[in-house]
Amino acid sequence: MSIRLAILVSGRGSNMESILRAIKEGQLDAKVEIVLSNNPEALALPTARKYGVHAIAVDNQGLSRAEHEARVLKELSEYEIDFVVLAGYMRILTSNFLQKFKHKDGYFRVINIHPSLLPAFPGANAYEDAFKYGSLVSGITVHLADEKVDHGPILAQESFPRLEGDTLETFRQRGLAVEHKLYPKVLQSIAKHGIRLLPQEEMIRQ
Ligand code: GRF
Repeated sequence: MSIRLAILVSGRGSNMESILRAIKEGQLDAKVEIVLSNNPEALALPTARKYGVHAIAVDNQGLSRAEHEARVLKELSEYEIDFVVLAGYMRILTSNFLQKFKHKDGYFRVINIHPSLLPAFPGANAYEDAFKYGSLVSGITVHLADEKVDHGPILAQESFPRLEGDTLETFRQRGLAVEHKLYPKVLQSIAKHGIRLLPQEEMIRQ
């Protein structure tokens, strides 16, 4: 089944582009209805338009979190959206936002990618944190969002090594290459099979 997506971004948009490219190349059965950024300067916006996708900014400057989210929700409500896809969206979502995308099975239809093997290294600087810590293996997590930051049921994880001679930059590039394959792959699996979560009793909740 083709899935209808809204992608939320704040910056460069390389993950967003990997999703749009996978759709264009017929590897992902999805339609991106809208790309939305809280940052009007986000490079992701012109990139999305190059792919013919409706891309808008809803600037958060000068707005409370609640006001900004209300505006974002209003834009998204113009579309039938199966999943909200977070791709470098640097805003914390409130419970009110998540509730708007609650599935009858209890999870939120909001997906995030995070550049570490969660629950290790949550937060905005995961590559740097894992590198500085000296992790010899790190990785990428795609997960459903919940009320906590970088937290929620894990959909997929893929590891990558830190190699001798790595700098933070080479380490980050190796991880990004994994991100760009993993995100479209997980979305395609959702398009084909839906969300498949481990049974509750098998999940270790924090
Ligand atoms: C990625 O590393 C993603 O995992 C993290 O933010 C970064 C966004 O990069 N959440 P881009 O905007 O997709 O290039």
